[in-house]
Amino acid sequence: MKPREHFGSRFAVIAAMAGSAVGLGNIWRFPYILGQYGGAAFVLVYIVASLLVALPIFFAESVIGRRSGTDTFGAMKKLAPGTPWKWAGLLTILSPLLILSYYSVVGGWSVQFLFKALSFNITGDVSESEVVGYFSRFISSTWQPILSHTLFMAMVAGIVLGGIKNGIERFSKVAMPVLLGLILFIVVYSLTLPGSMAGLRYLLKPDFSKLTADAYAAALGQAFFSLSLGVGTVLTYASYVKKEENLVVSGVGTAVSDLVFALVAAFAIMPAVFAAGFEPGSGPGLVFQTLPYIFHKMSQGMPIVSTLVSVAFFLSILAAALTSAISMLEVGVAYLVDQKGMGRRRATLLLSLGVWLLGLLCSLSFGPLSGVKVLGLSFFDLQDALCSNWLMPMGGLVFTLFVGWWMSRADVRDELTNGGTCNVRLFGLVYFLMRYLAPVGIVAVFLSNLFL
Ligand code: PHE
Repeated sequence: MKPREHFGSRFAVIAAMAGSAVGLGNIWRFPYILGQYGGAAFVLVYIVASLLVALPIFFAESVIGRRSGTDTFGAMKKLAPGTPWKWAGLLTILSPLLILSYYSVVGGWSVQFLFKALSFNITGDVSESEVVGYFSRFISSTWQPILSHTLFMAMVAGIVLGGIKNGIERFSKVAMPVLLGLILFIVVYSLTLPGSMAGLRYLLKPDFSKLTADAYAAALGQAFFSLSLGVGTVLTYASYVKKEENLVVSGVGTAVSDLVFALVAAFAIMPAVFAAGFEPGSGPGLVFQTLPYIFHKMSQGMPIVSTLVSVAFFLSILAAALTSAISMLEVGVAYLVDQKGMGRRRATLLLSLGVWLLGLLCSLSFGPLSGVKVLGLSFFDLQDALCSNWLMPMGGLVFTLFVGWWMSRADVRDELTNGGTCNVRLFGLVYFLMRYLAPVGIVAVFLSNLFL
């Protein structure tokens, strides 16, 4: 058997982990809920939730991953032999594949819009209703979105086929700096638009009156999704981290990058939205309908500028979605390679095919299958609700309980302090958070999903 691959450097670890973390959650979700829950006041709550609850879960996953050096199922089997923990590990192999099946549909939309932006079609001389109408027509058609979903999945599979060093690491090391550059370019463009200051005020004005109970739950839920917790991606990536690497430093590096990207995305999007006199809407509509129109309208008479900005914008969504998607696929691939002895090529192709098929249902649920509802939800919405509201927090709970209550304190300490050589003074606090605060935080997310 070939020796297990490792990420080559600290930068590679953080680029890959931050690549997984920074995704659609940062680019369209964060800017919108930030404003909704009181701007700067929400950022404070978000930072506290990230530090006290999300980051400890991140550390818990890292500990399991690196200590076992294998996939999520194998990790539980290795660290808790003969116990049912491994079944929980298996669950966290299925959830990222489920997420990927609908994430890839949205990733496909960004491929389509990138082509559109390139061919001037969106930014040509069109009215608002034409742009808005284009999005609805596109997603409700049958073949075009399927083609885009296929292209996106092919890219994901192509990167994962390359393995850790030549695939995931190499791609993330290029994609993440490029992504930052592209978003910063849009920030500059956005802030130079007349009227953009209203957007800045919206983001910066701390409005503590909007910090209601569900703002706290939203902050926690967002931190969870944004850091890719509870679905084994952190665990799997950590299994490729060398023993000398400082897990606390790479965890903090990832969380800080994730926050920076979310904030920068907010500063790229909201000033433009306000400059064009729009209300900040939520979800795919903001990114795929309002923004293409804004880029067009605000660059009136300068098609080159609007094309450049649109291309930069959809390229950044595509890059962010790809680096997240590869981490989801890698969880399953690692399982088939480590547990079933399958070759990487076969494992990648097999899982990509399965995810692609499931994604077809999600894609069609905006069009020909829009009438098919399960529990009142379309396939797409059902999968999203199942994963974000239930599977992710459940996985997170499993990981923190495992590290906080099943593993011995000495083993956890050994892993987080690299045998007592680093983070020694910090360990007590981190351990306390993993053992007590993180599980309580997750239960709070569950309760809020049930009652708020
Ligand atoms: N964190 C990613 C985002 O913000 C989503 C994700 C979830 C990635 C789960 C991997 C695993 O879009």
